[in-house]
Amino acid sequence: MRHHDIAVIPGDGIGTEVMPEALRVLEAVGARHGIRFGLRHFDWSCETYKRTGRMMPEDGIDQLRDHDAILLGAVGAPGVPDHVSLWGLLIPIRREFDQYVNLRPVRLLPGITPPLRDVGPGDIDFWVVRENTEGEYSQLGGRQAEGTPSEMVLQVAAFTRRGTDRILRYAFDFARRLGRSHVTSATKSNGIFHSMPYWDERFRAIAAEYPGIEADQYHIDILCARFVMSPQRFDVVVGSNLFGDILSDLGPGVTGTIAVAPSGNINPEREHPSMFEPVHGSAPDIMGKGIANPIGQIWSAAMMLDHLGEEQAAADVMRAIETVLGSGDAPLTPDLGGTAATSDLGAAIASAI
Ligand code: NAI
Ligand code: MG
Repeated sequence: MRHHDIAVIPGDGIGTEVMPEALRVLEAVGARHGIRFGLRHFDWSCETYKRTGRMMPEDGIDQLRDHDAILLGAVGAPGVPDHVSLWGLLIPIRREFDQYVNLRPVRLLPGITPPLRDVGPGDIDFWVVRENTEGEYSQLGGRQAEGTPSEMVLQVAAFTRRGTDRILRYAFDFARRLGRSHVTSATKSNGIFHSMPYWDERFRAIAAEYPGIEADQYHIDILCARFVMSPQRFDVVVGSNLFGDILSDLGPGVTGTIAVAPSGNINPEREHPSMFEPVHGSAPDIMGKGIANPIGQIWSAAMMLDHLGEEQAAADVMRAIETVLGSGDAPLTPDLGGTAATSDLGAAIASAI
């Protein structure tokens, strides 16, 4: 029996509804592959914040540190400002654990109607690799002459050699690991004077280390258009924090729904736990009804398995999701056009395993 210790943080809203389905699937796939999970549950959420004034305890990061991975639902609740939930939980975890890769698959699943004409399952299948710790998302800058006509605001984007090289190298290594032959860089070196030419320069340097992989780059504006017009052409797309953020919502949008999309916040060196979470939020508009789609959470658990070295188990979960969605009589949740409950869809995927 292999053993993995997982920190489970369901969070708020539908996070608490979809998490049990991911755990149900993990149990099923664990039984099949001889994997035991040591699950430790943390109730950190906006509810905790309302009670204690903190999203997580002061030593929260230390409590998580010894786990092999973190599985997160979603955080955010009406009455608590979003920057509180984000900066009180998600951002500290990403930064303290140096989860500098944000990885998101963009894949059109069977049984889902995409907003694009003439594409089917298999046509759209690529990955967005986003820098997750520096770049445009910084607290550097300031405001001067506040409230006067000469008011000025400066927001600094910080690109370090270390931060830039490691995300670019991850993208190429990842492409090689997947057996994909093509890495695309998102840039804007025609408009952004310092950081993006630097990004391009490092992209060329790192690409030269991977002669077997084709490297190309597009400015972010036309790249967005290409995501919509020809999503078939991509394998791995790498971008800075801001560009990657935009592309990693646009990608799942092009495949029809964000409710099934997963993400990984990864520390590739494995010095710290990585964290896996669905792309969607806590969906206060449907919480408590038991109708949230659990696939984003379940697919996140599959990404976690893959990261833990359980590739066979991860592939089994993906096959189960695709089998159920493609079966024609799947218990679909309302967002997919059905009338089934969260637990019906979760149970169907678990039993397909
Ligand atoms: P959201 O993703 O929660 O909801 C957007 C829309 O998609 C809603 O209509 C919702 O019902 C639907 N939806 C989302 N997930 C679904 C699922 N699994 N099944 C069926 N329908 C689903 O985004 P929104 O409304 O912008 O944010 C709500 C709260 O979630 C906010 O407090 C926000 O800050 C937080 N949030 C948290 C994230 C995280 O924890 N990483 C990510 C995004 C938002
Ligand atoms: Mg985003």
